[in-house]
Amino acid sequence: MTNTLVVSAHPEPKSFTHAWARATVDAARGFGEVQTSDLYAMGFDPAERAELYGHEGRFDPLRVQEEAVAAGSLPADLAAEVAKIRAADLLVLHFPIWWFGAPAMLKGWIDRALVHGALHLVEERFEKGPCIGKRALICCSTGCRAAECGPDGREGDLRLQLWPLAHALRYCGFTVLAPECVHEVHGYHEAPTRDAFAARIAGVLDGQGALLDGLGDRPVWASNPAGDFDALGRLLPGAPVLSPFIRHP
Ligand SMILES: Cc1cc2nc3c(=O)[nH]c(=O)nc-3n(C[C@H](O)[C@H](O)[C@H](O)COP(=O)(O)O)c2cc1C
Repeated sequence: MTNTLVVSAHPEPKSFTHAWARATVDAARGFGEVQTSDLYAMGFDPAERAELYGHEGRFDPLRVQEEAVAAGSLPADLAAEVAKIRAADLLVLHFPIWWFGAPAMLKGWIDRALVHGALHLVEERFEKGPCIGKRALICCSTGCRAAECGPDGREGDLRLQLWPLAHALRYCGFTVLAPECVHEVHGYHEAPTRDAFAARIAGVLDGQGALLDGLGDRPVWASNPAGDFDALGRLLPGAPVLSPFIRHP
């Protein structure tokens, strides 16, 4: 049995993003418990700040988060998200690409819900992260065509746009799977492409069950393991370059 947490970030319930997230929820119910965090519907507050902790004086977010975990005084919304993440075996993120990255709402969830002292610590990160053994899948959509956000596309490589988000999850210990991206999703399709677009979207939603069923065979989105770095955290000569984000100088 797999416990799946589906996190979605879109302000419109009738959006493709939410339709796709619902397809994930429906499919995931077939193999275990499902938890959801529909960030806009929850009114999740994405802006980390002192007042949320009743903190006075200089606000050092990492310290304040860690102290709140130790004292059992995390803000209730964060305690709930941490509990969901701890219970989950699989995290699925659903969102549209907005300005070459995740919407601020999802970035804010990353900033706040991946609590220091609970889901990562100075000595517990990457291969030692508390989320070791959990898998994460990014499901995102773009308005642009696949070619435009390929490695040589004018919008920039989508894998690079998604890298910081994936790396935040890796930092906590998650195994991040190859992302699933649907392109050319926007409301400007006109006949005759509009019908083909609707059929394509229907196919994505219908296929989500098979996609989740096949996660065991889905490639991991590789990043360098600890052994590829020296004592200062620099890529060792001869270690493979798996992303332009981490490369030889
Ligand atoms: C504020 C904003 C910024 C956007 N930036 C991008 C972008 O950088 N790249 C892209 O391909 N599409 C961009 N889009 C288009 C959305 O990604 C696209 O419309 C969305 O994935 C469609 O899914 P939805 O129906 O769930 O909104 C942007 C849309 C908005 C509203």
